[in-house]
Amino acid sequence: MSNHTRVRKAVFPVAGLGTRFLPATKASPKEMLPVVDKPLIQYAVEEAYEAGIRDMIFVTGRSKRAIEDHFDTAYELENELENAGKEAMLDLVRSISPPDMNCLFVRQPRSLGLGHAVLCAEPLVGNDPFAVLLADDLMRGEPGGPGVMKQMTTAFHKQGRSLLAVQEVPLEQTRRYGIVKGEPAGGPLMRIDEIVEKPTPETAPSRMGVAGRYVLTPAIFEELRTQPKGAGGEIQLTDAIGRLMSSETVYAFQYVGRRYDCGSKEGFLEATVDLALQHPDVGSSFREYLKTLSL
Ligand code: UTP
Repeated sequence: MSNHTRVRKAVFPVAGLGTRFLPATKASPKEMLPVVDKPLIQYAVEEAYEAGIRDMIFVTGRSKRAIEDHFDTAYELENELENAGKEAMLDLVRSISPPDMNCLFVRQPRSLGLGHAVLCAEPLVGNDPFAVLLADDLMRGEPGGPGVMKQMTTAFHKQGRSLLAVQEVPLEQTRRYGIVKGEPAGGPLMRIDEIVEKPTPETAPSRMGVAGRYVLTPAIFEELRTQPKGAGGEIQLTDAIGRLMSSETVYAFQYVGRRYDCGSKEGFLEATVDLALQHPDVGSSFREYLKTLSL
């Protein structure tokens, strides 16, 4: 076991506008869209919990009350389920917030970018390393294996430096990602020496794209505080990470598993089909249904 401070806190920036999912996101948060029967945000919280994280910090904005309610006690529903003797459903509802998990909420008053959203969490994170999980990236480890955040915290506890989850992406899609270039640093780690937000395929320094999972040292807050606005007039987390690299080593981490970009309709539909096929209740009947389709 190493001496590095353990990651106990996770930040979930959920204050984006979700314009790619309008009209669904007009009055409801994108992060509450369900994949089969669970909202996106719950998948991300469960992934953090599995990694040993217990303080869940949500950076919320307008129209995000449903997220607070989802992780709060639902007295009326619980009473009714109890009175009706529906024990299994009662357990399911109560398991959303285990007793040892703390949910904390802070508002981002305006959508000024992901970097700004992370900075809004500083008073709750303090001087500790922390995870960042973007719930619209739904991440799945290998069946039976650790989830992506668990893989990352395990690596962080060994070397104590910031980590960004990366995967190889098709060249024509570099515009959708932060792209990193670096040197192999053993196993799944790469020491990053360049990071660019959403480059064109012609200017992309590699095909390694950043997925929505980070473990960051608190030094990132100083960079974010002094960060000028970047692409789209927003305070970009990618730019702050680029500056952090001049004072600390930052690693890219090639995770084992699969990412679904649920911020886009295609990725959301792929996740829905794959997770429905794996679902214990509906998996086999859904498989039979798909076989009847003449595609
Ligand atoms: P996206 O780039 O996916 O933006 O943000 P978005 O607003 O959610 O969705 P579209 O592009 O309009 O459809 C990446 C992550 O950063 C959060 C979002 O909630 C999402 O998890 N975010 C972004 C904030 O919390 N605040 C911001 O100001 C911007």
